[in-house]
Amino acid sequence: MLHLSNLKDRSLIEPEDFTLEEMESLFSLAEKIEKDEKYLRDSCKGRLLATLFFEPSTRTRLSFEAAMLRLGGSFLGFADPGSSSASKGESLADTIRMAASYADIIVMRNPKEGSALLASRYSSVPVINAGDGGHHHPTQTLTDLLTIKRLLGKIDTLTVGFCGDLKFGRTVHSLAEALSRYNKIKMVFISPKELVLPDYIKLNLQKQNVNFEEKENMEQSMPELDVLYMTRVQRERFFNEDDYIRLKDTYVLNSEKMSSAKNNMIVLHPLPRVNEISVEIDNDSRAAYFKQAKYGMYVRMALLASVLGVVC
Ligand code: CP
Repeated sequence: MLHLSNLKDRSLIEPEDFTLEEMESLFSLAEKIEKDEKYLRDSCKGRLLATLFFEPSTRTRLSFEAAMLRLGGSFLGFADPGSSSASKGESLADTIRMAASYADIIVMRNPKEGSALLASRYSSVPVINAGDGGHHHPTQTLTDLLTIKRLLGKIDTLTVGFCGDLKFGRTVHSLAEALSRYNKIKMVFISPKELVLPDYIKLNLQKQNVNFEEKENMEQSMPELDVLYMTRVQRERFFNEDDYIRLKDTYVLNSEKMSSAKNNMIVLHPLPRVNEISVEIDNDSRAAYFKQAKYGMYVRMALLASVLGVVC
């Protein structure tokens, strides 16, 4: 049963804002769009998306803009806050009020945790969080879950390893919270002790009796994983460049490490990649990160169409 009409006019700030059923409905719609790229074409004709990116992005911004264009709509916005009046001291609240008076929906990325929630309080149109600092990135989670579902056929009962910067990696925080709602999931968090998962996420997992463990060693965990979710060490969130340099190459996925993984394990990465996945892995059939980026466009098409109320 589809729950898409429920999503009309709703903001998405963190994964918990949508029920599991609503997320599953988005995946079904995204799969429909992937199979028939003409489906929903022109459904958003006359609608405007504002993309307000106060931080750099390739995939999230371009896939949202591509999604809106493929639905027949248009977009406006900025990719660099230096070209907006934020650089003259305009508050986020005022910027959002303006964008909401020009566009039908706002997608925003901002370096400050909590900025997306604040934006939604000042906006008269739905706000989609495209990443708020080291907090959450819910549309990356939709992308990640759709990829897992499409490539492994299920999400329940999987063992998912997260590796790298689990402290600042907002995609990890959002995905861990969303996965906790599926049945018999096991999560393995692999990181140096300086970059462990924040306590508030661990507390949420404990409250829901989620089976998880924390490790520093990557090799030991490889044989049990169904999904390996690699992450970049988030240089832009460090206060100290020396710490970044010391930690940035803690984990590098290469062919030797992959040799102990299951034949049907998949490797995901929200991208951009720096050095944490060797390019030799790109040719491994288990490398799924470029497919993942494409699924991101389909699920964002499904999200825009649903929030704008052009599907039911
Ligand atoms: N995954 C992701 O958020 O990529 P971008 O930073 O390129 O948008």
